[in-house]
Parts: sequence; structure tokens; C-alpha cells
Amino acid sequence: MSHLAEVPFWKAINMGDELRGKVALVTGAGRGIGRAIALRLAAAGAHVSVTYHVSGAEAAALVEKIQGHGVRAMAIKADMGKVSEVVAATEQTYDMFGRLDILVNNAGILAAGLMEDVSIERFDEAYAVNVRGPFAAIQAAAPRMERGGRIINIGSIGSDFMPYKGRAAYTMSKGALASLTRGLARELGERGITINNVQPGRVLTRLLKEASDDKLSEFASSTAVGRLGEPDEVADLVAYLARSQAGYITGANLRIDGGTSA
Ligand SMILES: NC(=O)c1ccc[n+]([C@@H]2O[C@H](COP(=O)([O-])OP(=O)(O)OC[C@H]3O[C@@H](n4cnc5c(N)ncnc54)[C@H](OP(=O)(O)O)[C@@H]3O)[C@@H](O)[C@H]2O)c1
Repeated sequence: MSHLAEVPFWKAINMGDELRGKVALVTGAGRGIGRAIALRLAAAGAHVSVTYHVSGAEAAALVEKIQGHGVRAMAIKADMGKVSEVVAATEQTYDMFGRLDILVNNAGILAAGLMEDVSIERFDEAYAVNVRGPFAAIQAAAPRMERGGRIINIGSIGSDFMPYKGRAAYTMSKGALASLTRGLARELGERGITINNVQPGRVLTRLLKEASDDKLSEFASSTAVGRLGEPDEVADLVAYLARSQAGYITGANLRIDGGTSA
């Protein structure tokens, strides 16, 4: 197989500085997939506001790295589980940059464990961060967006593909995010805003930190391509959806899982 055949189609498109002058807010961007998304959007010319919960030092370092792309950046401490902080982060981004074009609801937590082992407190926390936070962010962001606005949620293939035990609460929350994406497509469409849900399979980040080497190998071999995903691969798809040419893609749940669910 040629190398070209392995390059995702959105990567083959020259992003150049297509997002020049746009403003993006990426939640939970101190590390992992969110960090990769923030850098990718900055590389395409967007000014980027990132939120963090505990990864303050990482977020500060990220701001410097984003600025290295010649764009503006700021980091805001905001617990995605607290609606007031989510709304404040959205308002601060708009006030600082004077516009808001792209919202990426990336922050998320696992609620792992067999049914009896997931406390109701952890269940509520997962819903607060993975579902209520994104809804509140969209409520705050959409009225501040002009036509051409982009909302991109980071869901999971787990919402409709789950060959393992112990993920029910997490996958329920990601299923709600998928429904939210479909449910808002029409009302946002009237405003010229698209909303999509990127659903990664297993991507090598701290979210997989509890998995043993054997489990990681098992995850890798369960894909069609024989490996785990990279945060940059998810970031490329998000950047593709953020561009103005992606205006006909909305209400979509887009899997990026190396063929795990094929
Ligand atoms: N990695 C995978 O295999 C995979 C697969 C499917 C979907 N996803 C989804 O991809 C997204 C990113 O995950 P990741 O893999 O990059 O995991 P990660 O490395 O664990 O990063 C999670 C991010 O979410 C933020 N976050 C967690 N709780 C938060 C809260 N209460 N308020 C604000 N931010 C909070 C974290 O910020 P702090 O560090 O500042 O707390 C961190 O930046 C998540 O929505 C996850 O569900 C990941």
C-alpha cells in the first residue's frame, strides 16, 4: 500500500491558513486530544482560547506554543462540570477576541467500572462534564457566533459500539452527546451554524492510563489498521470540520476509530 493511501482525505486537503482571523474555544485542552486540536486550529490561523481544569501549567505552556503560530491565545481555568464556569469561559473568549467562530467541546471524563462499582456521584459527574457542560457551552456560544459558526463535540465510538464491560455510564453520556448533536442540527442550521460529533476510537492519551500493556495491544489489534489512534489524527478531522468548505456537514456523528467498529 502506498503511503498516500494511508493519508486521511481531510489531511490531503491543504489547510493553509484557512482559519485565519477565526476564533476558537477548545475545552479541556491542557493535554491529550484537546491540546492537539488547539495546536491544529492555531496552525490553520485561528486565535485560540483553551480551558483547563487542573492542568494549569500544561495550558500555560500550550498558550506559548499556540502563540508561536503567530496567533493570539489565552488559557482559562474552568470546570466543565460547573455551568457558571463554562458560561464565563465562553464570555471571556468572546470579550477578549471580539468574536467566536469555533467551539470544540472536548473536555471529558471516564466513569469506568461495572454497574455496581460506579457510584451515583461519579455518574452525575460524568454527565455534568460530558453532557451538561457541552450543552451550556453551546447555549452560551451559539448566540455569539455569526453565520459560518462551527460547533464540534468530541464523543466516542462507545456510544454505539461497545464490545467491553464496564463502560455503561461513560457510553451513555457520549450517547447523549451524539443525540445533542443531531437534536441541535436544525435549530443551529437556521442560524448558519453547523454542529458535528467526532467519535474517536482508542487514542493514546492519559485517558487510557489505566490500561495495561496487554490491554493496549488488545485495543490495537481490535482495529482494522492494527494500531491505536494519535491525537493529531483526531485534530485533523476537527480542523476539517471547522473550515468554511465543510458547511454541508452537520448533525453528523463521525467515527475515527481505525476501523474498530467496521
Ligand atoms: N483517548 C481516547 O481513547 C478517547 C476515545 C474516545 C473519546 N475520547 C474523548 O476525547 C476527549 C479528550 O480525551 P483525551 O483522550 O484527550 O483524555 P485526557 O488526556 O484524559 O484529557 C481529558 C481532558 O479533559 C479535561 N477535563 C477533565 N475533566 C474536566 C473538567 N471537570 N473540567 C474541564 N476539563 C476537564 C482535562 O483537563 P485537566 O487536565 O485540566 O483536568 C483534559 O484536558 C474526551 O471527551 C474523551 O471522552 C477519548
